[in-house]
Amino acid sequence: MISEAVLEEKAELEDFLVVVFGEDYRVMARQHIAEMFSNALSRPIFLLKRQESRIMASVAISEALFTTHTWGIGWVAVHPEQRGNGLGQEIVKAALEAIAVRVKVPSTAILSAYPEGAGFYNRLGFAGATMDHAGNPFLSRKVCPNASGVIPIRA
Ligand SMILES: CC(C)(COP(=O)(O)OP(=O)(O)OC[C@H]1O[C@@H](n2cnc3c(N)ncnc32)[C@H](O)[C@@H]1OP(=O)(O)O)[C@@H](O)C(=O)NCCC(=O)NCCS
Repeated sequence: MISEAVLEEKAELEDFLVVVFGEDYRVMARQHIAEMFSNALSRPIFLLKRQESRIMASVAISEALFTTHTWGIGWVAVHPEQRGNGLGQEIVKAALEAIAVRVKVPSTAILSAYPEGAGFYNRLGFAGATMDHAGNPFLSRKVCPNASGVIPIRA
């Protein structure tokens, strides 16, 4: 089951993100997780998937500031032991569904992928050729409002 992170999961989520992205990302992960439980305008919402009580996948969504009807997706992570089993696809789909239940008009989901990750996102309906500041591909896709939260993978 995929569910929104709760306050008690803060430390475990931080450690999970460090396992996936490395120790260099600990402070950034800690700050973003803390923002989820703050009053920040564009606070992220972390979604987690547990298997046998351990966090095995995560993703974060947040509404972009300074633009309208645009949501960012980040912290897409699957535990190294569980890669290639479909969890990555499942957690990104959950992120799209979590956006779909929150938007009132057709909206855009954006993310910055590692170059080697573009193929993974292309399969989930994301496209784009713009590079971000680090030369990584910026990808986007449309998300239509859907109160039931169930949306097809491809827009
Ligand atoms: C990227 C990541 C989330 C993928 O998770 P995963 O659970 O291994 O992916 P899935 O098993 O759901 O893969 C879904 C499909 O995408 C394919 N796929 C995975 N990575 C791919 C890639 N780099 N290019 C093209 N296709 C890819 C898989 O082969 C699979 O195809 P299939 O359905 O035909 O078998 C995972 O490798 C990860 O956590 N990496 C480290 C963190 C990271 O890079 N995050 C993303 C930042 S861009």
